[in-house]
Amino acid sequence: MVLATVLALLFTGCYYDIEEELYPVSGTCDTSNVTYTATIAPIMNQHCVSCHSGSAPSGNIDLTSYANVMAEASTGSLYGSMSHDPNWSAMPQGGNKLDDCTLLKIKTWVDRGTPN
Ligand code: HEC
Repeated sequence: MVLATVLALLFTGCYYDIEEELYPVSGTCDTSNVTYTATIAPIMNQHCVSCHSGSAPSGNIDLTSYANVMAEASTGSLYGSMSHDPNWSAMPQGGNKLDDCTLLKIKTWVDRGTPN
C-alpha cells in the first residue's frame, strides 16, 4: 500500500516534499570521504560560481577558492543559505534548493572541519 502510494506520487510529479520522509538520505548518500577538492568545489562550480566569481561577485562573495568557501562555512552561511534556513538568503538565488544528498555533503564537510 505504501509502495503503491510512492509510485503514484512519483508519477504525478509532485513527490518532492514527501521524498525525503520516505527515503532517509543517509541510506543512499555516500559521505565517507567528503573533501573540498573532490566534492565541494564541483558543487560550487555547478551551482554557485556563475554568480559568485569574477570582479564583482554577487553579495561580494567569491566561491572559487578553498579559503573563501571555508570562510562561508565557518560563519554558517554556506549551509544556512543552501538549506534555505530563514536566517540566510536562500541559495542558489532564484533556484530550487539542491538535493538532499548534496546538502548532506555540505553539512558533513562543515561538521568535519572543512577538509581540503
Ligand atoms: C543567480 C545568482 C546566484 C547564484 C546561482 C547563487 N547566488 Fe549566492 N548570492 C547571490 C546574490 C545576489 C547574493 C547577495 C544578496 C543576497 O544575500 O540575497 C548572494 C548571497 C549569498 C550568500 C550570503 C547569504 C547571506 O544571507 O548572507 C551566500 C553564503 C551565498 N550567496 C552562497 C551561495 C551558494 C553556496 C550558491 C550555490 C549553491 C549560490 N550562492 C548561488 C546570487 C547567487
